[in-house]
Amino acid sequence: MSTSPSGFACAPAAARATVHHLRASRIREVANAGIGLPDVLPFWFGESDQVTPAFIRDAASRALAGGATFYTHNLGIAPLRSALADYVSALHGATALDNVVVTSAGVNALMLAAQLVAGPGDRAVAVTPLWPNLVEIPKILGAEVETVSLDYGAHGWTLDLDKLLAALTPDTRLLMINSPNNPTGWVMSRADQQAVLAHCRRHGIWIIADEVYERLYYGKGDGAIAPSFLDIASRDERVICVNSFSKAWLMTGWRLGWMVLPAALTDDLGKLVEYNTSCAPSFVQEAGIVAVREGEAFTRELVGRLRAARDHLVSALAVVPGVDVHAPEGAMYVFFRLAGASDSLALCKQLVREARLGLAPGSAFGDEGEGFVRWCYACDPARLDEGVRRLRGFLGR
Ligand SMILES: Cc1ncc(COP(=O)(O)O)c(C=O)c1O
Repeated sequence: MSTSPSGFACAPAAARATVHHLRASRIREVANAGIGLPDVLPFWFGESDQVTPAFIRDAASRALAGGATFYTHNLGIAPLRSALADYVSALHGATALDNVVVTSAGVNALMLAAQLVAGPGDRAVAVTPLWPNLVEIPKILGAEVETVSLDYGAHGWTLDLDKLLAALTPDTRLLMINSPNNPTGWVMSRADQQAVLAHCRRHGIWIIADEVYERLYYGKGDGAIAPSFLDIASRDERVICVNSFSKAWLMTGWRLGWMVLPAALTDDLGKLVEYNTSCAPSFVQEAGIVAVREGEAFTRELVGRLRAARDHLVSALAVVPGVDVHAPEGAMYVFFRLAGASDSLALCKQLVREARLGLAPGSAFGDEGEGFVRWCYACDPARLDEGVRRLRGFLGR
């Protein structure tokens, strides 16, 4: 008990211990230190400098004008679920409307998926370096998260499959895996997916696959899509795939996503949606239909631009002394090692203050990311050039 300013005895106001001990995002820590400073070039967040394409914004305006302002079904409006079922079926094989649920973006889908299958004391495994949300979300639910690190070597980041399989012990409840990966750009091979799926089937381990960057893939020719667990899993087994409108249609601020899951889970998921958000905004869902049904040409063109930006930034960084960089196969980040960046958080704060350059510290993505920094290249090449100029100037002082 403590005494309040107004003089009465009360229990101290504090979040429960699990929440209090969550790691705050170090990406945010750097950004918060830099937002508001004049002339900062921000490459710290995972979003493009371009607005959502006009045909999608127009669809939302029309939906608003038409009165799409009410609650919808918990699982999403049927025309959007149907459009998504067609989209997923075309990419990954037959997927029914009952296997698709609309969410309030990818991060909400990750939380809902974890809420569906993980509880206090459950063991979860996550492959890192990784966008911190996938590691922290199961912890909110009381699960214990063990991380398995990718290895960094002459060919960039690679997975030691045996190390991952050894960590997926029979008492493991779920695997959180993200490919194409934020921050490294690592893409899981089909062979590794098959081995992991077979192993998880044997032990009844759930797979929550975060595939929000599946379209941002440069490994094969134009229009290629990263290998997905949906290509090899049946729709009624313990696999939940999370996806988002944020990346492939530049809709970060709209908060719209979806997940593909066994139909046997959708009724229970509906309850969780009700108690989390009730539904995604209705006019946003209407715009989502147009994005999915009419956005293919846009997405392909976007990926072409991102591929060029990736190549541009990698070539420019490769000749900066002290930089060790590999071209990533997917996503929208270059995650490079920087000589002398043994405290990447301190370095990124210094870069913001002194060079007005906004990057994300590698340690934000796990201990093995220390010594690296992440640069989102989803922007105009001239901005990338100016960023590299600032980095060179800073390192050359
Ligand atoms: C790996 C990964 N998963 C999920 C998300 C969630 O994106 P959103 O909540 O905008 O759909 C992000 C966003 O950066 C991400 O990097």
